[in-house]
Amino acid sequence: MHSDVESILFTEEQIAEAIKTIGKRITDDHTGKSPVIIGILKGSFVFMSDLVRSIELDCELDFMVAKSYGNAAVSSGTVNVLKDIDTDIAGKDVIIVEDILDTARTLAAVKEILSARKPASIQICTLLDKVTTKKVSVVRADYKCFDVGDEFVVGYGLDYAERYRNLRYIGILKREIYEH
Ligand code: IMP
Repeated sequence: MHSDVESILFTEEQIAEAIKTIGKRITDDHTGKSPVIIGILKGSFVFMSDLVRSIELDCELDFMVAKSYGNAAVSSGTVNVLKDIDTDIAGKDVIIVEDILDTARTLAAVKEILSARKPASIQICTLLDKVTTKKVSVVRADYKCFDVGDEFVVGYGLDYAERYRNLRYIGILKREIYEH
């Protein structure tokens, strides 16, 4: 285990098992359809790569970079799209893939931006859902692997100051690392 990590929350094996289950559910729910699966970078890149290989559908993949900021009410105005998708999603079934839903501000804004392009449907798939009182949006995940508490977690794509993304597990970061 990395010395900055306090404890492991989910092992590589637990993550793989959860993704297999979610992948099967997405496959079953979209029989005969060809969804566009959109990963929100950077945090979702590891999850996205395992998830799409557990989905047995003819699908398209794309990525978006969005940064949220401020505490204002949720709207596309609070999110900056740094890299947009190239895919035309009009009339298509869209699944947004996120690493962690915290306040849900980012996802609410991304959903609003993508909705304006008239897809047939939009669903949300998140690796982690933070059980927090800080949720500012009613946007909820349609698919999720795990709930987590209000701690700062890293690994399997999730970072603190761009570090720890390459850990094979999800762990709680020691407080002393981010509280100086
Ligand atoms: P939201 O808009 O508050 O839901 O923020 C979601 C984004 O915040 C995620 O995509 C992560 O990049 C980041 N984030 C929130 N909580 C954590 C955490 O515990 N570890 C790492 N990143 C986090």
